[in-house]
Amino acid sequence: MRRALWLWAALLGCSRAPRSAHGPAIFEARCASCHGADGRGDGLLGRTSVPPARNFHDPAWQASRTDAQLEDVIRRGGLAVGKSPLMPASPDLVPSQMAELVRFIRAAGRTP
Ligand code: HEC
Repeated sequence: MRRALWLWAALLGCSRAPRSAHGPAIFEARCASCHGADGRGDGLLGRTSVPPARNFHDPAWQASRTDAQLEDVIRRGGLAVGKSPLMPASPDLVPSQMAELVRFIRAAGRTP
């Protein structure tokens, strides 16, 4: 079990994009392994999962979600809102981090 956890942590660490101008540090640390550095849903874990991690550049999806809904799924995780349990909960984010994440997701939507 310990070994499995360690492997999981190593996998997450390796798939993380190098620090860059792509997104806020919090996105790179917690989201990019699945959603990809640019939020196209093409992170190592996200592109192979079923369903795949959300591509934030999809205009139809952007139009279907309010900021409050984004915050809700980010805070409580996919399972709590009827989405994939792979989408993790982040209940510990401070308001400035949450605002950064929502801003980044919306900015991605402006470049389909
Ligand atoms: C372990 C992989 C994984 C990580 C890490 C992850 N996500 Fe996701 N995320 C997913 C998957 C898979 C979905 C698609 C869920 C679905 O459509 O059922 C998703 C969906 C979403 C959605 C769309 C929900 C909706 O209402 O359609 C948002 C927004 C989101 N993620 C934000 C984030 C943010 C922000 C982070 C980092 C704090 C993050 N995710 C980290 C896998 C992940």
